[in-house]
Amino acid sequence: MRKVSIVGVGKYLPKKILTNCDLEKMVDTSDEWITTRTGIKQRRMAAKNEATSDLAIKAAKEALEDAHLKAQDIELILVATITPDMAFPSVACLLQNALLAKNAVCLDISAACAGFVYALTIAQQFLASGTYKNALVVGAEILSSITDWKDRNTCVLFGDGAGAVVMSEVKSGGILSTYLGSDGSKADLLMIPGGGSRHPCSRETIDKRLNYIKMQGNELFKLAVTTMAHAAQVVLKKAGLECKDVDLVIPHQANIRIIMAMSKKLGLPAEKIYLNIEKYGNMSSASTATALCEAVKEGRIRKGDIVLLDAFGAGLVWGACVIKW
Ligand code: ACO
Repeated sequence: MRKVSIVGVGKYLPKKILTNCDLEKMVDTSDEWITTRTGIKQRRMAAKNEATSDLAIKAAKEALEDAHLKAQDIELILVATITPDMAFPSVACLLQNALLAKNAVCLDISAACAGFVYALTIAQQFLASGTYKNALVVGAEILSSITDWKDRNTCVLFGDGAGAVVMSEVKSGGILSTYLGSDGSKADLLMIPGGGSRHPCSRETIDKRLNYIKMQGNELFKLAVTTMAHAAQVVLKKAGLECKDVDLVIPHQANIRIIMAMSKKLGLPAEKIYLNIEKYGNMSSASTATALCEAVKEGRIRKGDIVLLDAFGAGLVWGACVIKW
């Protein structure tokens, strides 16, 4: 099997900022509650004329430039998203067209907050086997479009954004191990009940606000901590490494208390954890993708570093990945 790594990173965050103080005017909440319970201070909001593919295009262009590759060099485009522009065609196909990446096979991956790690893992398989040479993997979301802005339990948590990576064969290092898991028996903990084939969009689904995220946050919190800690242990063992060998952890950014509880379980010091939740909130598949991009650009990841990606989300689904940079 060929060695595969990330050779370019990019991101795009919409310009509009929604602060906790702005939310105080919309629902019965406070900056103090949101900050202490979640670690979030602000999040980005897509403009009215921006769809998920628009965010993905900007992040993808930056990643291609960073990788010094042309769109025509890309043979596989995977977009992890739960907020596609429309049910079909896929965001990946829309992205292909915008980039003129005419040699690419394109599909979307629906694995909620673990979507980017799922997409990375799938792309790695295609590249390691030699099926394709270069892949573009994007995590892009406009969660503001599926957020119930009258529900204080959820509306303070989510934001919009996109992160992208280019993946290619490398001579040494690269992805050392990956681990994915799913548990559909807990699907009811986090879902959008309406708007699909079970409850197609109707006046009733709109009136009952079924087209928005419904979440049992408390239950998910505990599962997120234990599952992400377990995923980290499994994927590190697969790579023949231990927690002490990790230079930087890029966790999914759902709640700072989840991240800190997970780190404590693993015995990882806070300085080894990358955080951007304060600025962006939970952007589902875009969270790990943008965090990875920012960590690279800020010099927090250097050549030879061991990087651990770890994510958990609706499904339930989870995934982790160890990369030697
Ligand atoms: N402002 C003020 N009070 C609030 C707010 C708010 N925005 N939201 C909830 N509360 C209140 C509740 O009503 C409750 O009040 P009560 O005690 O009078 O009933 C109280 O605060 C405590 O509510 P909890 O739900 O117990 O609060 P908790 O500390 O669990 O925090 C949170 C809630 C932030 C949602 C947390 O549970 C969490 O982060 N869960 C995990 C989310 C997650 O990981 N999701 C998976 C990934 S997302 C994806 O896949 C798309």
